[in-house]
Amino acid sequence: MITARIDGMEVAVPPGTSVLQAARAAGVNIPKLCATDSLKAFGSCRLCVVEIEGRKGLPASCTTPLEAGMVVRTQSPTVARVRRNVMELYISDHPLDCLTCAANGDCELQDMAGAVGLREVRYGYDGANHLQAQKDESNPYFSFDPAKCIVCSRCVRACDEIQGTLALSITDRGFASKVAAGMEESFLESECVSCGACVQACPTATLIEKTVIDAGQPDRQVKTTCAYCGVGCSFVAELKGTDVVRMTPDSSGGANEGHSCVKGRFAWGYATHPDRVLRPMIRERISDDWRQVSWDEAIAFAASRFQAIQAAHGREAIGGVTSSRCTNEEVYVVQKMVRAAFHNNNVDTCARVCHSPTGYGLKQTFGTSAGTQDFRSVAHADVIVVIGANPTDAHPVFASRMKRRLRQGAKLIVIDPRRIDLVRSPHITATHHLQLRPGTNVAVINALAHVIVTEGLVNETFVQERCDTVSFAQWREFIARPEHAPEATESITGVPAAELRAAARLYATGGNSAIYYGLGVTEHSQGSTMVLGIANLAMVAGQVGREGTGVNPLRGQNNVQGSCDMGSFPHELPGYRHISDSAVRGVFESAWQVSLDPEPGLRIPNMLASARGGSFRGMFIQGEDLAQSDPDTTHVVQALEAMDCVVVQDLFLNETAKYAHVFLPGTAFLEKDGTFTNAERRINRVRPTSPPRSGLHEWEAVCRLATAMGYPMSYPSASAIMDEIAALTPSFSGVSFAYLDEVGSVQWPCTAETPRGTRIMHEQGFVRGKGRFLLTQYVPTDERSTRRYPLLLTTGRILSQYNVGTQTRRTANSTWHTEDVLEIHPHDAELRGIGTGDGVQLASRKGAITLHAQVTDRVPEGIVYTTFHHPEAAANVVTTEYSDWATNCPEYKVTAVEVRPVD
Ligand code: SF4
Ligand code: SF4
Ligand code: SF4
Ligand code: FES
Repeated sequence: MITARIDGMEVAVPPGTSVLQAARAAGVNIPKLCATDSLKAFGSCRLCVVEIEGRKGLPASCTTPLEAGMVVRTQSPTVARVRRNVMELYISDHPLDCLTCAANGDCELQDMAGAVGLREVRYGYDGANHLQAQKDESNPYFSFDPAKCIVCSRCVRACDEIQGTLALSITDRGFASKVAAGMEESFLESECVSCGACVQACPTATLIEKTVIDAGQPDRQVKTTCAYCGVGCSFVAELKGTDVVRMTPDSSGGANEGHSCVKGRFAWGYATHPDRVLRPMIRERISDDWRQVSWDEAIAFAASRFQAIQAAHGREAIGGVTSSRCTNEEVYVVQKMVRAAFHNNNVDTCARVCHSPTGYGLKQTFGTSAGTQDFRSVAHADVIVVIGANPTDAHPVFASRMKRRLRQGAKLIVIDPRRIDLVRSPHITATHHLQLRPGTNVAVINALAHVIVTEGLVNETFVQERCDTVSFAQWREFIARPEHAPEATESITGVPAAELRAAARLYATGGNSAIYYGLGVTEHSQGSTMVLGIANLAMVAGQVGREGTGVNPLRGQNNVQGSCDMGSFPHELPGYRHISDSAVRGVFESAWQVSLDPEPGLRIPNMLASARGGSFRGMFIQGEDLAQSDPDTTHVVQALEAMDCVVVQDLFLNETAKYAHVFLPGTAFLEKDGTFTNAERRINRVRPTSPPRSGLHEWEAVCRLATAMGYPMSYPSASAIMDEIAALTPSFSGVSFAYLDEVGSVQWPCTAETPRGTRIMHEQGFVRGKGRFLLTQYVPTDERSTRRYPLLLTTGRILSQYNVGTQTRRTANSTWHTEDVLEIHPHDAELRGIGTGDGVQLASRKGAITLHAQVTDRVPEGIVYTTFHHPEAAANVVTTEYSDWATNCPEYKVTAVEVRPVD
């Protein structure tokens, strides 16, 4: 510690602490404008000047580190005069409209003018100034009024340091210097991704949320969690009454530490959109009009239909689907209803169509169905491998962390058919981009492992100490076979052997190497094999079990991890325990006072196939749009049409609701009370800012339905549901709402042995004991390009929209993405006479859709790419019935197609 004196007080702080921070630690607030805790010190405003004994002049306290023995005076007549002069200059070129300014009461310039005691401005306002500068209102969410800018550069630094987009700069010099977006464009035209970090950093009303301009300053706060992606950012909802005025990322949020993306910060308006259905509705047939009814009537209608189906067709004839958008507590009660009130295990989750191979693969190899690290760990990675993921679009706040580490010098390997933004972005260039053909992941991962095994790069100590040596010996023999050599796989994968060898060497020898992967790994016929292959690779190189390493699935939806943890799979009770295990079943049977079916139930695709076959006739669907998000839409629709009772619990009348008989209005995240579990296993609280607009919490509606079906189910609160989860699920045993309120968030396992949760898994040993190697034979998918369908379609997401767009399309995020487009390589486009903006038909053997084309070399020749955010494009009309061999996760990422121009 460094000891010094500030204003006569002795202060001891760690080395590197600035005089400004040290003074604050001693209770002395030095006036400041360009400094803020979230950014590196910059030293431009000169408001924070102090006197230091033995030093000439007045140094800026924000950029001066405290030194041992320093004697600092933060107040003196000279210091006060200089600070007042600085403020006077600022105010001489600032509109004096404080009383009508949107930032009134929340403006650091205003505060500092008061703090330094400015009473007059001697220069007048007649000379040259910036007061007539034009506002930029192009961004739908925030306004930029350069007349109020003090050129402190906080916005520029926030965009560089926090977001990593580098969209802003200060142009020109002296009096002419100003903030510019992009190449002096409007914010909307620039590369700005609307994360809002600059708005949050701005100390004046120059950059300010339009909602604050409209509604005024908020008067109360509620801490909650974003309802979009698996990053799980914490927010402070700032409110006037029950109306949200602003969402501010919470600096104490474990996942995001004060940052956010455009969705979490700005795209919450869907929660109060007029399209929301707030009353329960029923109808006899799907061709009838909906009829608004009371909750009691809707529940009684659904229960009697389900009971009639079971009486006529057996208890297996109905089932339920849980949603990764819902809280752990809401998911838990649905799976409990299916097992205890429906008396079968026909429960599945929408995670089936995204990360079910992750659960399977990581459980088989490491012993637990979850990622190994927290997000912070990436700051210690020397080599970052991104496989089949597009973090800057799909997991933007984590991407910002990752980019920060990459700008510090970590190496990047991208394995993806498409040139995602990370491959080349400001100050970042991937060392290797392995641009593989869709569907050849396993051949690539095997070739990487082959290089490590045959070039003597195996981490023998790790393998001997931590892994099952029998399975390792078998795997080593398998992977060393010549068929896995990069030279042999090159013609299959399209990845040059030399590039692949270099990437393998880098992964094994570059220091700490961490793998992050997404749906480009899982949504394949060999999705589970690929997850096993990734785990094998991490183990053979000893790249798991410590900071900066690991195997990390980037989960799509906010609560994918949680919905899986909560026992949503037909073969697993909460905590991933097999339904056939009589001891585990006994625990639930005695707690729930019901006997449970020991046989696993049906998965979603099996439910749908049985519905088409006539044996499955009723389904409870919690917050999932099966008709839009599941593959081979035509078959999904046929299945839904065939059922006698489809109950949809959702916010909006989605595509699936067209085939429903009962609609139960759901709750938006601003009404939910519960928890979400993010991709790092972090359990975050979701707190309501208002009561449910429909009158009932989702879990209450489910409890009433279970009760009407003959199994009494009720809880006094969501907190009581979590208490039951904790009592029955060992990895959640230390979790309660009270504990989360105390510590903020916690990563499971959270038990008596690990009361503060578990940041990094498998540190001392794998959860299953010894890490298990499994053979990963590459089997090409049956979906191949043919003369009729010569191109391969792969799919993904973009930043501003979210999944099927139900939420984001009801916000101003549609400004950035009004339709799904088809990316096609210039050569393929030229061959077909297609130009950017042309209408094209995209046809597979399953169906055809029309979109507009975008000609780009982001995709290689032979590959086309689209997103699936708009029902008009209905990308899943063309996707096939193929799915992962182990988990039935659909093969969304490979579909043979042809593209032709249409009028
Ligand atoms: S816009 Fe705000 S943060 Fe940026 S330079 Fe101007 S006053 Fe500072
Ligand atoms: S909103 Fe985000 S990306 Fe856009 S300029 Fe501000 S910090 Fe940069
Ligand atoms: S990164 Fe994900 S969790 Fe965070 S604000 Fe964006 S959508 Fe929400
Ligand atoms: S706060 Fe130190 S120079 Fe601006």
